[in-house]
Amino acid sequence: MSDQTITSVSREHRSFRPSAEFKAQANLGSDAVYKRLYAESVNSPEKFWGRQATEQLIWRKPFKKVLDWKPPHAKWFVGGKLNVSENCLDRHLGTARENKAALIFEGEPGDVRTITYKQLHLHVSRLAHIFENMGVGAGDRVALYLPMIPEAVVAMLACARVGAIHTVIFGGFSAEAIKDRINDCKAKLVITADGGWRRGKVIELKANVDKAVEGTPTVQSVIVVKRCGNPVTMKEGRDIWWKDAWEGAPNSHKAKAFDSEHPLFILYTSGSTGKPKGVLHTSAGYLLGAKLTSHYVFDLKETDRYFCSADIGWITGHSYVVYGLLANGSTVFMYEGAPNQPEPDRFWQMIDRHAITILYTAPTAIRAFMRWGDNYVLRHSLASLRLLGSVGEPINPEAWMWYHKMIGKKRCPIVDTWWQTETGAIMIAPMPGVTACTPGSATKPFFGISAKVVDDQGKEVPRNTGGKLAIMKPWPSMLRTLWGDDERYKKAYWSEFAGQPGVYFTGDGARQDKDGNFWIVGRIDDVLNVSGHRIGTAEIESALVSHPAVAEAAAVGRPDELKGQALVVFVTLKSGQIATEELKEALRSHVGREIGSLAKPDSIRFAASLPKTRSGKIMRRILKEIAAGGLVKGDTTTLEDFSVVAALQAED
Ligand code: PRX
Repeated sequence: MSDQTITSVSREHRSFRPSAEFKAQANLGSDAVYKRLYAESVNSPEKFWGRQATEQLIWRKPFKKVLDWKPPHAKWFVGGKLNVSENCLDRHLGTARENKAALIFEGEPGDVRTITYKQLHLHVSRLAHIFENMGVGAGDRVALYLPMIPEAVVAMLACARVGAIHTVIFGGFSAEAIKDRINDCKAKLVITADGGWRRGKVIELKANVDKAVEGTPTVQSVIVVKRCGNPVTMKEGRDIWWKDAWEGAPNSHKAKAFDSEHPLFILYTSGSTGKPKGVLHTSAGYLLGAKLTSHYVFDLKETDRYFCSADIGWITGHSYVVYGLLANGSTVFMYEGAPNQPEPDRFWQMIDRHAITILYTAPTAIRAFMRWGDNYVLRHSLASLRLLGSVGEPINPEAWMWYHKMIGKKRCPIVDTWWQTETGAIMIAPMPGVTACTPGSATKPFFGISAKVVDDQGKEVPRNTGGKLAIMKPWPSMLRTLWGDDERYKKAYWSEFAGQPGVYFTGDGARQDKDGNFWIVGRIDDVLNVSGHRIGTAEIESALVSHPAVAEAAAVGRPDELKGQALVVFVTLKSGQIATEELKEALRSHVGREIGSLAKPDSIRFAASLPKTRSGKIMRRILKEIAAGGLVKGDTTTLEDFSVVAALQAED
């Protein structure tokens, strides 16, 4: 065993078998079916994926070859042609789904809109004509900087329809961040809105775009949706209102067919340091991954009303608000605003109001709900819910149990889904109705995914040993490259294991337990070296959060002359709890009991909040710098709220 292996210290053993009722109606019948299909999918991946692609997607021209793999470059479904928007819309027309709600939208002020598949098709067709009249077509880049409103979905699908490549920029990013992304991909067109509602205030999106496009020579036009009615400046010859462009555009549009490998979108992901990476996804493989995982992991039924709280600016919004769900003909509920507007029970209110059946959210949101208190949940029935999902970070067992009891009322399976912007679709997750759910574990790999925990040489480590999470074979929804930087693509993902250019490195640490369940222990870059043991951040944090006073925790290392690295933890407390020296001692003992004295923190710091990315992930890199007593350097543009850092430094 390599001495670089990670020690895994978690002792979580609870396991929840699916109920007989859920099992009886599940899309995947039994564990035997899962095992048979999984074995086929990894032993004969081309046979498995070829069949799925034929069955699941609507092709204009059939593919000739399933996979062309020249590591680390893959081409899937070679020679095939299709249109992604046709696969999400036209295929449902003339069927019982035609008049089914594709989108149910609720704005933060409370306005509600329902858009059927037929109506969505009409909107997308019109916008596709508008694009074509503007000279925006196959291969052109279009930047979208929009609130969570239906127009964002329309714009994405209209890009797909004409073969343009969208890059969605999350509405929380600054003008500077928009400029960098537009310049990196040389977008020709920007679609934005006057503003979006957030916590009762208007976020002035158009004003940010105005600033950004001063420095983006490639942008020729800006289409502006009127959402909030706030005053905006429209530049003659460049800016046009969505509504004005709309007038006179034809209602139907004959979609062209594009190659399976035609680029669908670029999505910038921050990476822990340096310039954002432009992850490129292409058409058929991505769509197949998003569609198949949605069907099985969310156990989608014709009658479901599905709510994913992720913004469209993240990969979760791409795969599990738009492409995966619409390709399956599902009803997607979209919410524009903050979860605590006007009060912290907004989600629960909306779940009851719209009879939502599936909720997919993030651990950071779940921990916030826990902190706000159970009373906000208990005011609502939540009886329509039948399945819950989690994504974005390891979910600590404490939050999992709260989600299970408080939101799922012990009847809903929880699918903890591990995946990445780069993987395009869910990679590791329970099959609801089949897999026993275990708090804190994403459990088993999805069909066709050869996930393994390996050592530094890329060799599989024994069960219950920590190591690096690697994907041993290509899969259809994998990223194809980083936009304009293939060298970085090779270096970041395919160079970790010497002599194995076909093994994908996820950047995450993990362990597989004796039953084969995967436990993600955190990012490898964040791994702590505690008294000679390498321990993932997730396990220490999860031990802290299991203490009744703690709402959230982050663990980092600080250089220490004696020990090499001292363990520093930042802790936020639940409301009503008081930060005292006694509590610090109690937390140290608690970690000692939960993990062992080797993991007792050297220093505990109470904080009002923790620095997070705009998608809700704790930025340990920044905490590491604070713990070391230095100034915060490096890129902070992805930081959600800089005042959190200032407050932590002031306490230093
Ligand atoms: O570290 C893992 C963590 O989030 C990373 C991917 O982040 P991003 O590209 O922003 O995509 C988020 C939405 C898919 C992973 O490398 N992560 C994501 N989901 C989980 C997770 N860690 C543990 N458990 C998860 N379910």
